[in-house]
Amino acid sequence: MNKVAGAEKKHLFIHGKKVVAIEYATLYSPYSCEAIAQVAVADEKLVEAAIQSAQSGFQAISQMPAYKRASILENVVKLLGKRLDEAAEVIANEAAKPIVFARAEVSRTIETYKFAAEEAKRIHGETIPFDASPGGTGRIGYTVRKPIGVIGAITPFNFPMNLVAHKVGPAIASGNSIVLKPATQTPLSALYIAELFKEAGLPDGVLNVVTGTGSVAGEALVRDERLAMITFTGSPAVGIAIRNKAGLKRTTLELGSNAAVILDKDTNVDQVIDRHISGAFSNQGQVCISLQRIYAHEDIYEEFAEKFAAAARELKIGDPLDPDTNISALISRKETRRALEWIEEAQQNGAKLLTGGKLTADGVLEPTVMTDVDPNMKVSCQEVFAPVVILNKVRSVQEAISYVNDSRFGLQAGIYTKDIDTALFASDTLEVGAVMINDIPTFRVDHMPYGGVKESGTGREGIKYAVEEMTELKMIVWNRGE
Ligand code: SIN
Repeated sequence: MNKVAGAEKKHLFIHGKKVVAIEYATLYSPYSCEAIAQVAVADEKLVEAAIQSAQSGFQAISQMPAYKRASILENVVKLLGKRLDEAAEVIANEAAKPIVFARAEVSRTIETYKFAAEEAKRIHGETIPFDASPGGTGRIGYTVRKPIGVIGAITPFNFPMNLVAHKVGPAIASGNSIVLKPATQTPLSALYIAELFKEAGLPDGVLNVVTGTGSVAGEALVRDERLAMITFTGSPAVGIAIRNKAGLKRTTLELGSNAAVILDKDTNVDQVIDRHISGAFSNQGQVCISLQRIYAHEDIYEEFAEKFAAAARELKIGDPLDPDTNISALISRKETRRALEWIEEAQQNGAKLLTGGKLTADGVLEPTVMTDVDPNMKVSCQEVFAPVVILNKVRSVQEAISYVNDSRFGLQAGIYTKDIDTALFASDTLEVGAVMINDIPTFRVDHMPYGGVKESGTGREGIKYAVEEMTELKMIVWNRGE
């Protein structure tokens, strides 16, 4: 497979052109630590150029009829479909995402843009029954949804193509322009997509990509009053800082979680092991809805613990470009050290390792399963964002729900039970944005509403819901003079 040449310069993408920066930073593979590209670092002047470009792009896209916006998005769907393998390699190289998962991410990205193309054609308001009020007699009226302007999109490293699509897709569908600041470690997927949009016929200026650091480019976008909205996916700390600096801009914040599943006593353990392995360890656990906490009923706990740990030991660790690899490196050595420190801290305070907890010779953290973890330990109460999962024994679903809810976060949760009343009770009382009945919290398809409560964020993604966040409701009232 092709590796990106380490010396290749990756420029900014502003007004449909590659724009040279003053400074470039070397991008390293998280797995091999080899240089994979030299990436432009946008300074404030270049961010200014991108914002001005997006302002003129807004004039173009906001006037474009829906069928044309849809047709550009459909073109991207076709182009990406033809280049699926190439696009997957871009992701695997810069994010160390095992290639099988990288291909799955590109397939999801295609579907996300397909949903965006479809959604572009059904953005509409509603008629209001004015005569419901005596004062409204003789009026007819309706709402329309108008694009809001330039949107600043700040995207994370863990799904560098699909989470870009979750911001760029609905923005274009609804007639907005974008300045996109991808994660520092994963700029290549964003630049790849920007080129695809150019080929697909998107007018210059509608999509601009500024690479570099959050402290310069991200900060400049968040503080700029010409932007109508910031849509951000990333850590709670950064999300809260964005909210505090964004002024009157709209903000959609998709932040972290310590997602949990509850296994009731009637769970068929053999049937759920593979699903739980995938929820806990896909993308090395670097997923906002990664399965971090498992609460298993005491009747099935021992069987689940034994079979789950055995399955975790079977996972193949290695090079992300090897099609047999299940687990590769975390996004950086710093993050690997941080995860190890959290594991060690938990062990020093009485937690036990069922499996994992060590690094392989090439620096990859083994899939790790822990028990006897106190809820206040970091591996339980903070977002671990690594292949680490904790396993807890509970006496009842009610007890498990109280543990799940005892969290700063509330993104998604899952419960396995055959009892309808228990499922209804859980769906009613779990304090999260979405409850999965008989599934792990990691379930997501790209058109469902996605977002959390508490420190997991504000607003919703999922194309239709993101379009609502990215449009302004406008009321038109006609006076018939009666
Ligand atoms: C996320 O990590 O927030 C996204 C998860 C997903 O799209 O599956």
